[in-house]
Amino acid sequence: MTDHAIADIGLADYGRKEIDIAETEMPGLMACREEFGERRPLSGARISGSLHMTIQTAVLIETLKALGADVRWASCNIFSTQDHAAAAIAATGTPVFAIKGESLEDYWTYTDQIFQWPDGQPTNMILDDGGDATMYILIGARVEEGETGLIETPTSEEEEYFFAQIKRRLAASPGWFTRQRHAIRGVTEETTTGVNRLYQLMEKGHLPFPAINVNDSVTKSKFDNKYGCKESLVDGIRRATDVMMAGKTAVVCGYGDVGKGSAASLRGAGARVKVTEIDPICALQAAMDGFEVVQLEDVTATADIFITTTGNKDVIRIEHMREMKDMAIVGNIGHFDNEIQVAALKNLKWTNIKPQVDMIEMPSGNRMILLSEGRLLNLGNATGHPSFVMSASFTNQVLAQIELWTKGDRYGNEVYILPKHLDEKVARLHLAKLGVRLTELSSEQAAYIGVTPAGPFKPDHYRY
Ligand code: NAI
Repeated sequence: MTDHAIADIGLADYGRKEIDIAETEMPGLMACREEFGERRPLSGARISGSLHMTIQTAVLIETLKALGADVRWASCNIFSTQDHAAAAIAATGTPVFAIKGESLEDYWTYTDQIFQWPDGQPTNMILDDGGDATMYILIGARVEEGETGLIETPTSEEEEYFFAQIKRRLAASPGWFTRQRHAIRGVTEETTTGVNRLYQLMEKGHLPFPAINVNDSVTKSKFDNKYGCKESLVDGIRRATDVMMAGKTAVVCGYGDVGKGSAASLRGAGARVKVTEIDPICALQAAMDGFEVVQLEDVTATADIFITTTGNKDVIRIEHMREMKDMAIVGNIGHFDNEIQVAALKNLKWTNIKPQVDMIEMPSGNRMILLSEGRLLNLGNATGHPSFVMSASFTNQVLAQIELWTKGDRYGNEVYILPKHLDEKVARLHLAKLGVRLTELSSEQAAYIGVTPAGPFKPDHYRY
């Protein structure tokens, strides 16, 4: 039986060629192979990975394997898989379950599959993006232990399929979830939304193993979330619509790291950008970066492009969409699709233009272009962030996996951030590729500012 679910194994050669190119842009991951390859510190680790199955992720997977890990992989979004990347990984014999455009039912079956090792033994490490793989095990185990009120009443289509998959596994393999949970030494989490879920679990006493918050390494959120979106947001809008952006009015909801990159992306394309925020600090930053800060209601009838970046829910609501002008473009780059009330559009007339692009007719007769059904559009309509920035993110992932796998017993059941010297190391690994010449501190200078010449160069509270 083939231990994978992919679109077309015939795409493997094409995937391999792109992986070869990506490796030349991912110096951090290649340095990890060089530094740790011989020692194989991940030997014995059985990693269940749930993270967009892209070309860059293929380089991450092959790095984890080069360091000794066994890996099973699924995408963390139904639209984000690059089928040639999945094919190239499957062709090497690594089990991967990811098809661009898979159904929600398949999505949860595939999430289950990353925990189904051929020898029946459990997973011992999770590498997560958004927290779905972690939640699958933790919610399943709590239900198995008799807790009620967790999976009885779904509040969205997503939850409907999530709960159904838990019920299927509970019926098929009694005791399975608790056995998995018990064997897991730790989770490393990629993104803001997944990290929020982990902190909430920890606060409620529901986190049964240590977690490393990869997102809040400086070399992750201040680079991937910001510079990554700066390149990939406009890429997604262009591939989806070919719309002329110069001169158009675009609204970016949220001015955190992703919002900053997104607003810069649209400004770079010549759009006139407005921002909405709920946090006075981020609103002030947006204003002083030269963006007009508005309430969404001020601009719903006049803007051309609407992008959510908040990680929050119900940000663009049906009453906003009803107000929009004909052919307004609406999309989300935050982790989940509930930033836009897509469910409220279900009864309207949808015309599919091409995969991940729909035109929806509003009661007024105005049409709206919705990207990736409200799921993160840089991965749904384009290919996500470029390799170079993902190298920084994924080098943090590799270091976090090594840390928890080899020293997990030193950690409590809490959420941790990698120490600053590792953050600086990740950055350092990416300097040569850009020809950066770093200035070295003299010992007198180092002593004067209270650091050592080799770093760390900043206190933990420094914000960059
Ligand atoms: P963040 O916390 O830095 O920024 C979110 C911002 O939205 C905050 O400043 C917050 O005040 C604001 N906000 C919250 N509710 C709002 C509302 N109702 N209206 C306007 N503003 C609101 O988070 P970050 O790192 O920017 O991530 C945002 C989302 O993007 C998360 O879901 C994250 O997982 C996801 N993400 C997506 C990536 C992609 O490639 N598509 C890459 C990295 C993160």
